[in-house]
Amino acid sequence: MASTAEFAHHMIKEIFEQPQALRDTTASRVSLEEAVVRLPEVRISPQELRSLRRINIVASGTSRHAGMAGQYMILELAGVQVDVDYASEFEYSNPLIGPGELTILITQSGETADTTGAQREAKLKGSRTVAISNVVDSTIAREADGVIYTHAGPEISIASTKAFSAQMAALFLFALYLGQVRNKVPKALGQYYIRELLGLADKIKAVLRCASQCEKLADKYHRFDDFLFLGRAIHYPIAMDGALKLKEVSYVHAEGYPTGETKHGPNALIDEHLPVVIIATCDRNDPGSVVRYEKNVSNIRGFKKQSGQVIALASEGDTEVSSLADHTIYIPQAPELLLPILEIVPLQLFAYYMAVRRGLDVDRPRNLVKSVTLE
Ligand code: AGP
Repeated sequence: MASTAEFAHHMIKEIFEQPQALRDTTASRVSLEEAVVRLPEVRISPQELRSLRRINIVASGTSRHAGMAGQYMILELAGVQVDVDYASEFEYSNPLIGPGELTILITQSGETADTTGAQREAKLKGSRTVAISNVVDSTIAREADGVIYTHAGPEISIASTKAFSAQMAALFLFALYLGQVRNKVPKALGQYYIRELLGLADKIKAVLRCASQCEKLADKYHRFDDFLFLGRAIHYPIAMDGALKLKEVSYVHAEGYPTGETKHGPNALIDEHLPVVIIATCDRNDPGSVVRYEKNVSNIRGFKKQSGQVIALASEGDTEVSSLADHTIYIPQAPELLLPILEIVPLQLFAYYMAVRRGLDVDRPRNLVKSVTLE
């Protein structure tokens, strides 16, 4: 972990610890040579995993955003239907879950009351449960059938940063593992993804070099009171988390929205007073990603016609987005399913510098606690 003396706050220290956190969560669980993921701690037999009908992911706040990204990973790699729910809403939705299903509880602390309640309800209905937690031996980890620990190290700042990227990495490992157990991932594909996953820590290091650019953006935008964060598909949860980070640490109103939904309402708000942060990266090897990218470019063109101010995240080498957007932050090339782990980093940095610029208590935002143990 990084030394405390180097950093002014826990939040920025924890943002910079992400390369190490990612290595600690992933490296010991994969073999590149054999192209396999090993997760014995899941403690659910391969036969049971092969016959799963559905997976429910239940979590709160940032952990739920990781679950939303995990939904795309599991669907793509293992071909299992996944539903994602707010832990605080779980009991009211009277979930039709039962035997033959798996409920994944994602929680940094492992003590969130809503998530503990959801786990108990899922177990009562006969679902198997797996916890993804950062705290060893936490209540939720103890009560689950299986557990995947994120080894992100202690997270002190109330805003979750390194735990979030580690949760997405753990979900990616689980999706790949499930895909292998269910014979959905050929060896070459498994090897490709493991190689990319192992290379991600260095790419996060590269993204962290945009810290001074994010600081300058905060200098320019810290007086704005509203922001819109946009993303499509697996990038939408990242837009949601970028907005949540900004809200909680800088007390600036921000909304995360699916990019395609802007034309169904929020477009009316977009002008020079509402900056738009849009995730417009592209995995050129993935045809679906290219289609989404082109739609994003057309959206940015529209926002500029409405005098919108656009801060875009684009892939390295991209020139189209940067010719349209007011500011472009570059993200290294990566597979579509792993891009979110890189994209969240500049959004965390932006929220951090906005809070600093506004003179706020970054690590302890008002009215919030690290672990919500009361419903
Ligand atoms: C994240 O920045 C928040 N502080 C909050 O949304 C948090 O993710 C949520 O309360 C869930 O906590 P948990 O992961 O410990 O269950």
